[in-house]
Amino acid sequence: MITLTIDGKRVTVPKGTSLLDACRIAGADIPTLCHDPELSLAGSCRMCVVEVAGRRNLIASCVTPAEEGMQVETESEAVIEARRIILELLLARHKLECHVCERDGDCKLQDYCYRYGVKDSRFKGEEPHFYKEDPNPFIERDYDKCIMCTKCIRACAEITGAFAINLKNRGHNAVISTAFDLGLKDSTCVFCGQCIMVCPVGSLVSKVEKGRGRTYQTEKVRTVCTYCGTGCTLE
Ligand code: FES
Repeated sequence: MITLTIDGKRVTVPKGTSLLDACRIAGADIPTLCHDPELSLAGSCRMCVVEVAGRRNLIASCVTPAEEGMQVETESEAVIEARRIILELLLARHKLECHVCERDGDCKLQDYCYRYGVKDSRFKGEEPHFYKEDPNPFIERDYDKCIMCTKCIRACAEITGAFAINLKNRGHNAVISTAFDLGLKDSTCVFCGQCIMVCPVGSLVSKVEKGRGRTYQTEKVRTVCTYCGTGCTLE
C-alpha cells in the first residue's frame, strides 16, 4: 500500500493504483473525456491533469500511477486554467449546435464547459467539415462534433473485436474513418452500438432513437424487450 496527500487529505491505496483513481478515492471530482475503465488508456484529452508538488508540468492523472508521498492538487489555479484552455482547444473544431443536439444535457463537453465557464474558443480556425451521410439504418456519424477521444475506436476493437473504425489524417484534419472510407454497412461494423455508448459528445447517435427525446426527457425502465421500437414499457 502507498500513502499520498490529495487536496490536503491523506489517502492510502494499493500500489499500482492510477493517480486518477486515488484522487477519486479521496473524493476529488476529476473531469475525464478519453478515459473509460473498460478500455485501454489513451491519455489524449488531458482533461484529468493535476498538479503534483515538485513536478514542473501538470500531469495527466489517468495515465500516471500514484506514488508514495505525492502531494497532489486537483483544482489549483494552474489546473483550472489548463482545463479551460483544453476545452477551448476542443471547441475550436466542435460544431456548436447544442440546442438541436441529441446529446444536449447528456454531454461531457457541455458539462465541463459549464463547470469551467468556457463559452467559446479563442482558437477558432477553419470550421470542420467532416459530417458524412452514411446510409446505414442505425448509426449517425457527425464528426464535426468529434473531440478525438478515440473511445469509439477502442470500444470497437477491444469490446466488440470488429476493428471497423480508426483514425485517418493528422492534426486539424484528423478524423475517424473506416477502411477505404466506406460507409459502415460496407465495413466490418456489426452495429453493436458500443461506439455510441462510449461517445462523450453527440458525434455518434442512434438513428433509431434520434428525435424520440433527450436523456433528461426520457426514463429508463427494466424490460425483457428485444426492442421492437413500438414504445411499450414492459417491466
Ligand atoms: Fe486523462 Fe483524457 S482523461 S488524458
